[in-house]
Amino acid sequence: MIELKQEERRSGGAIPAHIAIIMDGNGRWAKKRGLPRSVGHTAGATTFRHITRCASRMGIKYLTVYAFSTENWKRPADEVDALMKLFHKYLVDSLTDFRDDDVVVRFIGDKSGFSQSLQRLINETEEVSRDRTGMVLNIAMNYGGRDEILRAVKSLCHDCADRKISPEEITEEIFEKHLYTSGQPDPDLLIRPGGEARISNFLLYQSAYTELYFTDVLWPDFSEDDLIRAIDYYSKRSRRFGGV
Ligand code: IPE
Ligand code: IPE
Ligand code: MG
Repeated sequence: MIELKQEERRSGGAIPAHIAIIMDGNGRWAKKRGLPRSVGHTAGATTFRHITRCASRMGIKYLTVYAFSTENWKRPADEVDALMKLFHKYLVDSLTDFRDDDVVVRFIGDKSGFSQSLQRLINETEEVSRDRTGMVLNIAMNYGGRDEILRAVKSLCHDCADRKISPEEITEEIFEKHLYTSGQPDPDLLIRPGGEARISNFLLYQSAYTELYFTDVLWPDFSEDDLIRAIDYYSKRSRRFGGV
């Protein structure tokens, strides 16, 4: 039973400001239907578009989706190729997509791992949406939480070597400025469809106090009602952040 009413959804009270989603289960969704895994990724991309619109219309301020991890390069070449083709297609579409919803599109991860043409599209997508004022959509591509933390450490080491800062002066606030998510709030709620209860190297630093919601629903089947169920679960949690 879905308990959140439309007004409650929009009220902002128990609504998470920042939702993160590990979009998992595309391959199994396709396998169940006797289809190639790439068909599952295409279906997952359609769900991504729909759920992004739903989140934006519900008044979510930040949505961060995990689209491709630093470890996903290990997959068979034909699957990686199919994913890169899909990213191309969706980035071209997203140049106009999300405009009506005023969504700001940002990418987190190591862009340099992608082809020149994909990097150009990524930059263009960020550029055209930069001045919008609606929900911020972070797309994590070639993203790894450990990679992100290492980059921050290296960047701070350079600043120390250049005597811009001393090691003793490094605070959490300063460290966070060196992460991809600099300036954004930590995720309040992390949703993982697909039946696995693990983080898989996503937002390791930022999810220290994030509420976790796992569901067996496979990502291509994930609906607006599933999103509402996750938010409903979140609204019932007591967040103590180590206090009482
Ligand atoms: C998530 O779905 C999409 C990516 C990792 C790119 P999967 O491809 O991991 O689907 P399953 O987990 O094998 O079902
Ligand atoms: C996490 O899913 C990465 C993305 C959804 C992009 P994986 O399918 O790669 O994670 P594991 O291998 O099950 O941990
Ligand atoms: Mg998976």
